[in-house]
Amino acid sequence: MTFAPPHDRSNEPAGLALVIGGTGGIGAALVAGLRAQGFEVMALGRRTQPALDYTTESTLAICGQHVADHLARTGLRLQRLVVATGFLHGDTVSGQRAEPERSWQHLSADGLQHNFLINAIGPALVMRHFLPLLPKQGRCVAAFLSARVGSIGDNALGGWYAYRASKAALNQLVHTSAIELARRNKEALCVALHPGTVDTGLSQPFAKTGLQVRPPDEAASDLLAVIDALPPGSSGQFFDQKSLRIPW
Ligand SMILES: NC(=O)c1ccc[n+]([C@@H]2O[C@H](COP(=O)([O-])OP(=O)(O)OC[C@H]3O[C@@H](n4cnc5c(N)ncnc54)[C@H](OP(=O)(O)O)[C@@H]3O)[C@@H](O)[C@H]2O)c1
Repeated sequence: MTFAPPHDRSNEPAGLALVIGGTGGIGAALVAGLRAQGFEVMALGRRTQPALDYTTESTLAICGQHVADHLARTGLRLQRLVVATGFLHGDTVSGQRAEPERSWQHLSADGLQHNFLINAIGPALVMRHFLPLLPKQGRCVAAFLSARVGSIGDNALGGWYAYRASKAALNQLVHTSAIELARRNKEALCVALHPGTVDTGLSQPFAKTGLQVRPPDEAASDLLAVIDALPPGSSGQFFDQKSLRIPW
């Protein structure tokens, strides 16, 4: 897909931008970037008030109500919903360590469950509680950070079973919710985005020499440019940080 010149945001009210995972590496840079674009920005995550934690489903409903109340009180429109949460390695809910698997020998139910919880189930619950808050008319964007390794068509290397599979599940959820979203608002866009390799805690142990690793503020600025340039008809698709389509 070729992109038109960047969408002219002067026709779009600035409104509210919500970043879920706004305390993470890329998420915090997105918060700063959206603020610089003139949005009022709200960040939600495990360390915010109210807190949003995918391991406790009720926190999503509480945070959804919190945002709905804020929109009703201020009269702002929710113009951007960016989901910047994710998991690749670390402690799981059960307290065990999970690392990306190099072989099927390393697969564990615990690792698979945690990757699916943070990379697919959590964002699906975000869809349930936050997509209904998008305006029913006019352009608005929901963007979910996925990963190129979630592409089945692009997978030539193997490995990283749980992360790949959970991001592929996320991509399907994004595509499916984009179809439903279009029934409420034809101008609303819902996309999956690959941020490139970015210097954060998530990528740090795996950043190989030779890979282009970029600072979070640069990645955020690219992602916001991709979001602004999304043309009508691009909803439900998967794009990289240069606005190029990634195969499913
Ligand atoms: N960095 C890269 O090179 C790269 C490459 C491809 C794709 N991505 C994707 O980009 C996104 C952002 O990654 P990042 O590099 O910024 O990673 P990061 O710095 O580790 O941030 C991860 C985010 O996920 C949140 N999170 C983790 N567990 C959670 C839970 N139980 N409930 C709610 N939130 C939870 C973290 O919240 P806390 O702030 O509370 O810890 C944090 O905001 C992810 O989807 C990742 O898969 C990153």
